[in-house]
Amino acid sequence: MGIINKCLFPVAGYGTRFLPATKAIPKEMLPILTKPLIQYGVEEAMSAGIRTMAMVTSKHKQAIENHFKTHPEIESSIQGTAKESLLDEVNRTIEQCDFAYIEQQQMLGLGHAIYTGKPLIGNEPFAVILPDDLCANDGNSVLLQMTKLYAQHPDCCIVAIEAVSMDAVDKYGVIDGNLLNGSNNAYRVHNMVEKPSPAVAPSNLAIIGRYILTPDIFTVLENTKPDKNGEIQITDALMTLAKKGKVIAYQFQGRRFDCGNVKGFVEANTVFAQEML
Ligand code: UTP
Repeated sequence: MGIINKCLFPVAGYGTRFLPATKAIPKEMLPILTKPLIQYGVEEAMSAGIRTMAMVTSKHKQAIENHFKTHPEIESSIQGTAKESLLDEVNRTIEQCDFAYIEQQQMLGLGHAIYTGKPLIGNEPFAVILPDDLCANDGNSVLLQMTKLYAQHPDCCIVAIEAVSMDAVDKYGVIDGNLLNGSNNAYRVHNMVEKPSPAVAPSNLAIIGRYILTPDIFTVLENTKPDKNGEIQITDALMTLAKKGKVIAYQFQGRRFDCGNVKGFVEANTVFAQEML
């Protein structure tokens, strides 16, 4: 058993920025080259030693579940051909990991999605990956970096942050904090604001879709009020823990592509194509 054994994937959202593509296909199944976003996410979790993948999904997203099942007909049709290896990576995830699913019945926000995953997680620290934030890595994945930091601060939640331009802060949760002693990339968080206007943003350090959460987050989420749009925000719940000094923000090494919007998705495809084709 590793220090973090489970990863939660909140993948219930409608992906409206990608309509009409996401009418019948989950956003997480959109491919960067030939591999769906969700598979990159699962492989990143595996790189951090995680073998239990807990998906918070919706009834429209059966394709995700199907992706992580074997497909004997396709396999026999490519057996012995040059295409045989194309399923190797996904089959490795199927062989080595357990997949569990739970349905989020109403889209009440990321915090609500994470709370919905509670029965799959139980009372242990866990990782969260939002697969539309694709993090490219050369073996030292963002989640692996975060797991190492968590090992030094096991009573804290860790959020991954990236410096973004000031005019983009209103798309993110933004933190304010002080560098930990002797560190140049990890901050003790004392304030977090969800989607602030540039004028009131406490910094340009934006939270991206990677978290390590301690199980006390579930109790906090239970008591977190919906925002003005009726959504329960994970940032608001984390703020409760930040007030107790229990949130660390980590400026990761690596490159992130925001594949939740068309520009970032095209950019990821372009960069991966340049490297792989
Ligand atoms: P987004 O804000 O990107 O929403 O959610 P979305 O529905 O995926 O995409 P758009 O904005 O309509 O284009 C961030 C992450 O939180 C999940 C989403 O699936 C995504 O991974 N989420 C969000 C849920 O699982 N449930 C929710 O109620 C809200």
